[in-house]
Amino acid sequence: MPKVLYGGARGGGKSYLGCRRAVELAEAHPGIRGYLCRAEAFSFKHTTLLTLLDKIDVLSRPGWSHKASDQYLIHDNGSRLDYGGLASNEDRDKLKSMELTFGFVDEASGVDPISARTLEASCHRQPEFADLSFVLYASNPEPCWLQADFIDEVRPGCTYVPALPADNPYLDPLYVDHLRETYWDLPELLDAYLNGSWAAIGSSDRVFAAKMVASAMKRSAESGGTVQWGVDVARFGDDRTVVYEHCGMGVVRLVAEWTKQDTHTTSEKLIALFRARNPKPAVVVVDDIGVGGGVVDNLRAARLPVRGINVGGAARQADKFANKRAELAWHLRTVLEGGGCLPDDEHLRSELMAFRYLVRSGRIAIEGKDELKKRLGRSPDHADALILAFAPIAVAGPRDAPSCTSVTLQEALRPYRSAGSPGETFRMTPPPRNGVQPRGWRSGML
Ligand SMILES: Nc1ncnc2c1ncn2[C@@H]1O[C@H](COP(=O)(O)OP(=O)(O)OP(=O)(O)O)[C@@H](O)[C@H]1O
Ligand SMILES: [Mg+2]
Repeated sequence: MPKVLYGGARGGGKSYLGCRRAVELAEAHPGIRGYLCRAEAFSFKHTTLLTLLDKIDVLSRPGWSHKASDQYLIHDNGSRLDYGGLASNEDRDKLKSMELTFGFVDEASGVDPISARTLEASCHRQPEFADLSFVLYASNPEPCWLQADFIDEVRPGCTYVPALPADNPYLDPLYVDHLRETYWDLPELLDAYLNGSWAAIGSSDRVFAAKMVASAMKRSAESGGTVQWGVDVARFGDDRTVVYEHCGMGVVRLVAEWTKQDTHTTSEKLIALFRARNPKPAVVVVDDIGVGGGVVDNLRAARLPVRGINVGGAARQADKFANKRAELAWHLRTVLEGGGCLPDDEHLRSELMAFRYLVRSGRIAIEGKDELKKRLGRSPDHADALILAFAPIAVAGPRDAPSCTSVTLQEALRPYRSAGSPGETFRMTPPPRNGVQPRGWRSGML
């Protein structure tokens, strides 16, 4: 049975093709049955089903009706298109009892290979349509089993058909500009989404390149400007509580670090450090997941200008970053690329170099803490505190009644526009295309 991956760039018309082919087969071959899906039924209903209902307008074609509660479309000629998910046990059980001829899996990178085989096994069950059976997978380039099966090693019966925006004459003419704006700082993703390059999507890669960190450690900066602290809180065990300071003109320094203290003692130490510091930090940023939460409460009670951030929470640019941790790490990377400075510290260097990112469903994710710890041999407490010290937060109002608001990336990077050493190019502002500034440049981060 043929298996086809229609894959590559965004906007090539993959979802449209899969749905349209299913509708036309159903109309032309009375009694034929197909299954249209994504990994989750919920996401199918909110994306691909809309292509079927709104773009192809299947219900305005003669003979079709929709049984939404049972998740299928049926034609007067007896053909039927079921739809839903593929990833859950329930989905796979449902499929096992279906007698199908074809399947269409949209955004197939989200589906695991075992579930895909379950669908393939069900798509040869109508002997009268045996020579029409197939499974069509649609996917953007993602590091997943599709690349091995269809591109690198090629499983028997598998064919790869590239899809490019240039192949789709129905695409909004501004769509390519939109992709360029969104991914201007991620050349690998841009290459994947514009040119359908699977090769560009490697496995995980370093967030902070060695050269970037080395250059930042060689640069010098002026002191002055708003002071921000980043605090990574640890409790017992080997992890350390680390406090980094970042001042608006670019100076970054390690304020203090300690181990094996309860949250009460850690809070007391932070309050004492804060009171002794001159000039005082305008904001103290603390990761408030777990043990950090108690410290945030204590600092707030002591009227310190504290800002708790849940780094596991949603990113502001949720279409680009898997969570806030990824967004903040990327922000530091952008600042360092743009001429930011770092203290020359081997400990910090090794932690930053251990950060890896990967692309999951089109979004940047930072490798999990456990894998990072395994590779580094310790928790990246210095790097985590540093990332918080750079978190783009604007501070307004009197110091003892802080009000922290979002700042734009442009505002956050202003000090670095002059921080690069002579001859170094400032790479933050990509060339405007059609007079439009890239989206990443405009939007606030927190
Ligand atoms: N043959 C066609 N006739 C009319 N419109 C089409 C056709 N093919 C694609 N389109 C339109 O082009 C646009 C992009 O198509 P589609 O959403 O299928 O692309 P895609 O490759 O699935 O994109 P993504 O990678 O973002 O999922 C949609 O608005 C779709 O309706
Ligand atoms: Mg699509």
